[in-house]
Amino acid sequence: MADVSESAVGEARRSETPGATGAGPAVGAAGAPLLALLNVEVLYAEVILALKGVSLQVAPGGCVALLGANGAGKSTTLKAISGVIESDDGRVSGGSIAFRGLPIHGHETASVVRGGLVHVMEGRRVLPHMTVEQNLIIGGHMFPRAAQMRRALDGVYHAIPRLADLRTRTAGYLSGGEQQMLVIGRAIMAEPKLMLIDEPSLGLAPRMIEEVFAVLHRLRAQGLALLIVEQNTRVALEIADYGYVMEGGRIVLEGRADELRANEDVREFYLGLDREGGRKSFREVKHYRRRKRWLG
Ligand SMILES: Nc1ncnc2c1ncn2[C@@H]1O[C@H](COP(=O)(O)OP(=O)(O)OP(=O)(O)O)[C@@H](O)[C@H]1O
Ligand SMILES: [Mg+2]
Repeated sequence: MADVSESAVGEARRSETPGATGAGPAVGAAGAPLLALLNVEVLYAEVILALKGVSLQVAPGGCVALLGANGAGKSTTLKAISGVIESDDGRVSGGSIAFRGLPIHGHETASVVRGGLVHVMEGRRVLPHMTVEQNLIIGGHMFPRAAQMRRALDGVYHAIPRLADLRTRTAGYLSGGEQQMLVIGRAIMAEPKLMLIDEPSLGLAPRMIEEVFAVLHRLRAQGLALLIVEQNTRVALEIADYGYVMEGGRIVLEGRADELRANEDVREFYLGLDREGGRKSFREVKHYRRRKRWLG
């Protein structure tokens, strides 16, 4: 497996020159996208084609929602980007993934993280027997000096004050929402430019979802770019400026968050049930609506 060397990352920094590229919808006025996937395919166990040509972009400091039903390929997309896919016996079998202008597919996760990209996986994997602060320190293991570690810890406590209050608590006894904030805090110890985050709202009470998203809003305001996978479409489209809807390993719809919020197909699919009371596929909803228009 290749490694993104520090010099290659330095090269990426130098190549972050403002200026127009073929500005796609998620590309800010500043120029090149921070993250760009082009026709990405992923194979699991050399037989299951889970992604069938996914293209998406995240602008520097932008916030993108990746939506879709169970099994659509959302987590696979994040794992392909961070490289974690390799530990799931998967691989990027086609297309390209570029972060800060450099290809990263096939690179080790640790080197991708050093380059400024972190992946907060689904399931709030805290180290349960350690304190909150010890969990954070593990996220900052790359700092050679204590002063740097302290600065990063202070940064996390500033961004997520709740963690400062909980610093001596055992992580395993925190509530689900507090654990979600802890894994976010641990990820930002690495001082990333982009955070991939998988289902942060899953299983949380509405008040906790609000609190977690308030943290994400704050990090966004500090310039962190976010790629958020969510089944809670409402909260995701509130924070995002752009969204993609996935189904069957493909992007089936994309648009500005406000457009998606207003899109009747999205509303019908995500907010609702069909007439028989079951959830249809997004495509079926589109066809159904089209048929309705034709007949009506
Ligand atoms: N390790 C694996 N080996 C084989 N197939 C896998 C593996 N992980 C996921 N898949 C398959 O890839 C497809 C996409 O899965 P993925 O987990 O990316 O979906 P998702 O959109 O994140 O769904 P959910 O909302 O349920 O988390 C599914 O058909 C799934 O069964
Ligand atoms: Mg998933």
